[in-house]
Amino acid sequence: MKLFLDTADREEIKQWMPTGLIDGITTNPSHLSKQGTDTKQVLLDICEMVPGDVSIEVVEKEAEAVYAQAKEIAALAKNVVVKVPFAKEYLPIIKRLVDEGVALNITLVFSMLQALLVAKLGVRYISPFIGRWDDIDTDGLTVLSEMVELKQTYDFESQILAASIRHVMHWHHAAVLGADVATLPAGLLDKLMNHPLTERGIAKFDADWASLGKKSLLA
Ligand code: E4P
Repeated sequence: MKLFLDTADREEIKQWMPTGLIDGITTNPSHLSKQGTDTKQVLLDICEMVPGDVSIEVVEKEAEAVYAQAKEIAALAKNVVVKVPFAKEYLPIIKRLVDEGVALNITLVFSMLQALLVAKLGVRYISPFIGRWDDIDTDGLTVLSEMVELKQTYDFESQILAASIRHVMHWHHAAVLGADVATLPAGLLDKLMNHPLTERGIAKFDADWASLGKKSLLA
């Protein structure tokens, strides 16, 4: 399973890249709104810091303007994936962008059949938003599992990117279900690092080692 960091915060990215765990980044306009007004520089920096795919979302609305902006975004760096929200009026430009070789991540996907439609168009990623289903009292993981099954049944190339992951069990289930990618907020990765049994185990080993009264392990 690939792991993406869900952020536009360069400090968070700098902190997590050396772990070797991060395969890519997903940004969105909400993340960017917290990083100051020089959004182009923020995005260029991120593309340079991360060798893997960096998703950058269009902010234009009208279909032809979305198309033009998608081309502009794609030209920023080799590892850019352009994020386009699912909408009927965008389907023709999604098709055109795919035909022109632009890597796309279709975002705000909320039904299995929406996923089927954009998979048919050959997009690179499809992003179902698990947490936002849960927000409206619908089980996001059920819809995610249908999408993963759909991908397996029809063997399409688009990757299912589990997004809007709000807690560790969302990630856990996305992994069990077989989502290709999970995009995670840095805070959630941090939470997983702190396991009470790991901490207790280290404390016990330290105490036992100290009881030996030696300084060096190999001398
Ligand atoms: C990532 O691509 C999404 O934009 C992000 O995961 C949305 O998360 P949220 O629903 O917690 O805002």
